[in-house]
Amino acid sequence: MRILITGGAGFIGSHLAENCLKNGDEVYVIDDLSTGSMDNIRFLQKVPEYKDRFFVHINTILNNDLMLELTGICDVVYHLAAAVGVQTILEKPLESIVTNIQGTEKVLEMCNKFKKRVLIASTSEVYGKHMHAPLVETDNIIYGPSSKFRWSYAASKLMDEFTALAYHRTKHLKVVITRLFNTVGPRQTGAYGMVIPRFVEQALKNEPITVFGDGTQTRTFTYVKDAVTALIKLMGSNQATGEVFNVGGIEEISILDLAKRIIEMTGSSSTIELIPYEKAFGKDFEDMQRRVPGVGKLESVTGFSPDKSLSFILSEVIGYIKNK
Ligand SMILES: NC(=O)c1ccc[n+]([C@@H]2O[C@H](COP(=O)([O-])OP(=O)(O)OC[C@H]3O[C@@H](n4cnc5c(N)ncnc54)[C@H](O)[C@@H]3O)[C@@H](O)[C@H]2O)c1
Repeated sequence: MRILITGGAGFIGSHLAENCLKNGDEVYVIDDLSTGSMDNIRFLQKVPEYKDRFFVHINTILNNDLMLELTGICDVVYHLAAAVGVQTILEKPLESIVTNIQGTEKVLEMCNKFKKRVLIASTSEVYGKHMHAPLVETDNIIYGPSSKFRWSYAASKLMDEFTALAYHRTKHLKVVITRLFNTVGPRQTGAYGMVIPRFVEQALKNEPITVFGDGTQTRTFTYVKDAVTALIKLMGSNQATGEVFNVGGIEEISILDLAKRIIEMTGSSSTIELIPYEKAFGKDFEDMQRRVPGVGKLESVTGFSPDKSLSFILSEVIGYIKNK
């Protein structure tokens, strides 16, 4: 199969590309390297067996002609390119909205032109400020005011979901929407604020671990290879067409306990430093206190749900960062 991965030089995209290449697929990547890196995929370009079926285009998904060419060539499209992470969104608010809204519109327009099946990477952020658990796909959505720019990431991804569903309803385009919960593993960078690589890097340098807020906020982490398995299974399932799925892990933990666990696992002498949100992100920020995925729908359609423990995920990330 010929597969187009937008954002294929990114963290999740590179694992997806690796998996598809191993499966014998022909893989096309488009990535502007804004948060991705050639380091994530260079090793794949060096595998002799992949030489004639791995093609990388360093370019933007907003490039009409290239997207036309690539979508025309490929059988299916995984749309992962996005402005990712709260830090990116706060630093580059307008650019982020353009990438996430116009970029996704472009991908959907091209997929519709050639009637190519497309999977959209959305996020657990779309749920907003819930306290209950688990979150299920039919839950209401609760955001703060538009003056708090942090919500623009969630709102832009939600608009992507609406646009994809509208293409499905009106044009019968085969779309699948995945709401990824905090996905972690080797190759994720801490440079854009992602919590686990950031904490591990601080712990390995015996620097203070900087916890934003009071650390009582919780998250549930998904191992990247589990997430990739879920994406591939959903792409292959007719039952998934036109539907929204949570893709998330199994173990809820507070950020303070996460910091303690990482200190313990790395044998670090780091202390923990609490930093008020306003100092870390400015006035445009407010946090989501809790995020636990309900994955019953994913499991019932694919027979699969992520099952890697947090200890396993942390040991993979620690090993990766140590060896980098
Ligand atoms: N990692 C997570 O925890 C998580 C959680 C929820 C959702 N997601 C979603 O999964 C997808 C992949 O995220 P990731 O964690 O791999 O982040 P990432 O930043 O590593 O990947 C995004 C990739 O998109 C590329 N990109 C950005 N703008 C582009 C443009 N205009 N044209 C071409 N490429 C562009 C970046 O260079 C990067 O390689 C994103 O859509 C993200 O919103 C990730």
